[in-house]
Amino acid sequence: MNVQTRHSADATTVEEALAAKNYDAVVDSESATALAMQNTLLTPRFYTTDFDEMDAIDVSPVREDWDKLIAQMASDPNKGHFKKNEDWDNIDWDGMEPKLKREFIDFLISSCTAEFSGCVLYKEMKRRGNNPDICQLFSFMSRDEARHAGFINDALREAGIAVNLGFLTKKKKYTYFRPKFIYYATYLSEKIGYARYITIFRHLEAHPEHRFHPIFKWFREWCNDEFSHGEAFALLMKSDPKLTSGRNVWWIKFFLTAVYGTMYVRDHQRPAFHEALGVDPDWYGQEVFRKTSEISKQIFPITLDIDNPRWMKGLKRLQKANADLAEAKTRGGLGGAIGRMGASARAAMAFASLYTIPAVRHDVPASTRLEPAY
Ligand SMILES: [Fe+2]
Ligand SMILES: [Fe+2]
Repeated sequence: MNVQTRHSADATTVEEALAAKNYDAVVDSESATALAMQNTLLTPRFYTTDFDEMDAIDVSPVREDWDKLIAQMASDPNKGHFKKNEDWDNIDWDGMEPKLKREFIDFLISSCTAEFSGCVLYKEMKRRGNNPDICQLFSFMSRDEARHAGFINDALREAGIAVNLGFLTKKKKYTYFRPKFIYYATYLSEKIGYARYITIFRHLEAHPEHRFHPIFKWFREWCNDEFSHGEAFALLMKSDPKLTSGRNVWWIKFFLTAVYGTMYVRDHQRPAFHEALGVDPDWYGQEVFRKTSEISKQIFPITLDIDNPRWMKGLKRLQKANADLAEAKTRGGLGGAIGRMGASARAAMAFASLYTIPAVRHDVPASTRLEPAY
């Protein structure tokens, strides 16, 4: 008999999580879904890849570390965690300052889309694969992401909003990335996700008066899941040294710059949100980059020189160009079109200037595995 799990947090597989009762209640909320459907440089995308190539990976060079990591994922320390309990304080959504409410909802929708994007990609890999190591890993990771997305949707539902995840799966555009780009991009997004969540969690531990929503209390266990997912991608890259040497180092630099730059620009679009948290987005950005760089030394032979004076200058130019671009888009007409061209060119120049800052080289340790330490 197939008994429906009550909550995605208690599910043992991704299929069970997506069929759980809390996913049932996810009704279509038009504007939220429309926001999640957007495909711009700054919004979370859905990815597809060459699943056969990924299925052919041989993890035997990293077998010992691999088995340990998989055993840890199989033990499922966060089962049952991602749902409301007595620590979930009541939120007065109607009383929330409108600008903060708008930015916070935008934050939740974009986080939910990002979690779900991981869920869809990992679930697909698991479905298409025949390699038992790969299928096992992707089944655990998709299970986790389904729980994360389900939990954010629980939080959104209280505000009368929900992202229609079934609709997104069918209708959102999928971007194709070669497997090696999936490794770089996904590894970084898992690790930067860890760094973002743990930085907020530690900050709010010290300043609980800024915790304006209970979801932040769940961030520690949450980011530990993301940390393990990142570990898995680090091991996948370690299993094939070509991925992190030679010309590929230029790709690594490209992804590092793109991921850091995107985060900086997006966070600066939410000033009221960061003010409510009591966090300066410039400080937050650098703090997160520093942690991510420190972690990514486990596998990448370079890190970005975020203390170079050109770094912050370049980020600010990138952010200003993006703000001008958005403004020109809303303006429309001929003036808007000219404004868009100018702003796009400035954004490209700013990115190029960030990309050309000399990177910091270092030796990669023989053993890849790390534990979350922040
Ligand atoms: Fe996640
Ligand atoms: Fe993840």
